[in-house]
Amino acid sequence: MSTAISPTAYNYKVVRQFAIMTVVWGILGMCLGVFIASQLVWPQLNLDLPWTSFGRLRPLHTNLVIFAFGGCALFGTSYYVVQRTCQTRLISDSMAAFTFWGWQAVIVGALITLPMGYTTTKEYAELEWPLAILLAIVWVTYGLVFFGTIVKRKTKHIYVGNWFYGAFIVVTAMLHIVNHISLPVSLFKSYSAYSGATDAMIQWWYGHNAVGFFLTTGFLGMMYYFVPKQAERPIYSYRLSIVHFWALITLYIWAGPHHLHYTALPDWAQSLGMVMSIILLAPSWGGMINGMMTLSGAWHKLRTDPILRFLVVSLAFYGMSTFEGPMMAIKTVNSLSHYTDWTIGHVHAGALGWVAMISIGAVYHMIPRLYGREQMHSVGLINAHFWLATIGTVLYIASMWVNGITQGLMWRAINDDGTLTYSFVEALQASHPGYIVRALGGAFFATGMLLMAYNVFRTVRAANPAQAEEAAKIVVVGAH
Ligand code: HEM
Ligand code: HEM
Repeated sequence: MSTAISPTAYNYKVVRQFAIMTVVWGILGMCLGVFIASQLVWPQLNLDLPWTSFGRLRPLHTNLVIFAFGGCALFGTSYYVVQRTCQTRLISDSMAAFTFWGWQAVIVGALITLPMGYTTTKEYAELEWPLAILLAIVWVTYGLVFFGTIVKRKTKHIYVGNWFYGAFIVVTAMLHIVNHISLPVSLFKSYSAYSGATDAMIQWWYGHNAVGFFLTTGFLGMMYYFVPKQAERPIYSYRLSIVHFWALITLYIWAGPHHLHYTALPDWAQSLGMVMSIILLAPSWGGMINGMMTLSGAWHKLRTDPILRFLVVSLAFYGMSTFEGPMMAIKTVNSLSHYTDWTIGHVHAGALGWVAMISIGAVYHMIPRLYGREQMHSVGLINAHFWLATIGTVLYIASMWVNGITQGLMWRAINDDGTLTYSFVEALQASHPGYIVRALGGAFFATGMLLMAYNVFRTVRAANPAQAEEAAKIVVVGAH
């Protein structure tokens, strides 16, 4: 086998753009998270203005962290991974550039319209129809670039990370299009094509699979590339990764009804959602174990490599949230947890601990390579970031567990004569300390992101264009 340098190079420009915007949107979305968390501690922060009220800023937070921060991380890493594992350049620079600018346009659209109160009212699908259509066009282009690149690959097989990214792209397109079918009545108002329990079912089929495919499957694609790369070990079991893939995508799609327990949804559908959610524990943990075991023989690297720490701790939080999720899907547990802060804690165990941590690790891995540097400007700052993120996540989750269980128990407490033991306001008062701790945890996490921005800025400023160009050259292994 010989190694030849191909005259063409990877398209790193679009990867750089998405990587930088991951940091920018991450800071904005998380600072907004800290702000809305503070509003729940000090309601005066609503400022008596409609645009700055909790109700309008909350969906802006979710859109910024999921679609802007998470989305840019997924676009950037998938373009990086697909090129490197297929040993070929993206099929089209202009289409890739369109996905970058189109995606930023959707986000800016969200930044303007959500505080103004334009919303479909469907959670995680709030954007009104003109933006939803733009998003669909960008997404289909993304699919064409990604799969087109796979088609013209120089390698024989398709690396498992690409299977996960591929499923995430296909299913997200399907979910987004089906859930957004609606009748526009003006430029900024549309009505869903579905109604009643059907609308709820479609919405949570979308909502849960947004979690399953956007917040999980895509990031597993990231995990399957960056964990072995950073640990410098092959993936623990390639066979397990294939079983993991098929089991995960087959099961996730059925679990949506666990968001609609004790509602007008038929009972059998609720039970189906519950059972499928419990079975989901198996592939989720299979994937987590596959990632963790990749470190066999390389555990000592954790002592000196904070990037690897980000990646491994993200897997630990992934394991934790995918254990908690199936438990919360059990109807009797859900009767306690639903509507309480327990759900919010679960969300952020996944969102901060898993999604954000793995993205941060992946961006730290890519930035020096994209800018022709040996490593990030400061490893010490990455380490400080790691601890701020970990402590911040733990403070967030622990305070929400305490709040959630307190709320659930207080709401259901009944006196001998059948009246409620506590008023709603009493439960709210009991939650106040937890809200302070959550805001503090969020502030820790967001401060870590500011350190990251500084570190990235210094690394990029010292970029070595010649070396970056050299690094982008395609090395075709096995060529003659
Ligand atoms: C500094 C970090 C963050 C803070 C302080 C924060 C804070 C918050 C707050 C206060 C809420 C509203 C909770 C409520 O309605 O009671 C919320 C909701 C939410 N956040 Fe965050 N957040 C942060 C980061 C993130 C990240 C990185 C993600 C995703 C990747 C995320 C995803 C969500 C989601 C999905 C919801 C809605 C949860 C639900 O409806 O059940 N957050 N966040
Ligand atoms: C096996 C895996 C998982 C299962 C079975 C599961 C199950 C659940 C359940 C039962 C709920 C509460 C529904 C309710 O009472 O309304 C929930 C909420 C949620 N989970 Fe998970 N979960 C899993 C993994 C994850 C992961 C890894 C993430 C994040 C990355 C995540 C994000 C969310 C979000 C955002 C919500 C809140 C949805 C909303 O009401 O707005 N879940 N999950």
